[in-house]
Amino acid sequence: MPRTPLVAGNWKMHKTVSEALQLVEVLLPRLEAVSGVESLLCPPSTALMPLSAILDKSRIALGAQNLFWESEGAFTGELSASMVAEFCQYVIIGHSERRQIFGETNDEVNRKILAAIAVGLMPVLCVGESLAENEAGRAAEIITGQLQAALKDVALSGGGQLVIAYEPIWAIGTGKAATPEDIDTLLRNVVRPTLAGLFGEQLSQEVRVLYGGSVNPGNAADFFGQPEIDGALVGGASLVAEDFVAITQAASG
Ligand code: 13P
Repeated sequence: MPRTPLVAGNWKMHKTVSEALQLVEVLLPRLEAVSGVESLLCPPSTALMPLSAILDKSRIALGAQNLFWESEGAFTGELSASMVAEFCQYVIIGHSERRQIFGETNDEVNRKILAAIAVGLMPVLCVGESLAENEAGRAAEIITGQLQAALKDVALSGGGQLVIAYEPIWAIGTGKAATPEDIDTLLRNVVRPTLAGLFGEQLSQEVRVLYGGSVNPGNAADFFGQPEIDGALVGGASLVAEDFVAITQAASG
């Protein structure tokens, strides 16, 4: 069964609500005109409620960039999974910036994944090795470890409940994308077999696996031409309407 490509924009800490509304006004009709691709926007938390009102009846999905695993309580500054699920279908979990800057561990990523799935949110689980790990030939080991830890005790009723984003840290925001062939090989030989070990062969074939790291309109088609790459998690280029639309069009084939 072919997997529907997913092109997701991770806006990170960019765009006030008024800027977000302006960007979506341009994006909405243009993304809706692209067939055969699912689009996902992940703005800052402040923009989730206003954008959900606009995207509600559209084909464009909305996602948060993080959540906290507890359901409620004295956790100043945090949002629970059910709060996120009021507005979103997806949530990015375990982005390398959260792991590196905020010290998020594999165990915390696992708790967040479990909390998301429990309320019906689809996690976009980010994994990826650092430059030092890559140069030491440890990419496969790091990615396998991250997947196994993050997905511990996770039960899926369908592969559509989970998205994986492979983002090598050395390719994020650097302009240095990994080569499409290398990504495809890694997804085929490392990510997909690890998912099969956790969820069985059939479910592993249904999970969409994205590439992230310096994806732009010039290189997107090369990534999407690889059989194992089911879409992209786009950072910088998702803030520019023209670029995000062009990347989405490239995924439509
Ligand atoms: P860039 O596309 O800016 O390299 O960012 C990738 C990323 O981190 C998406 O989550």
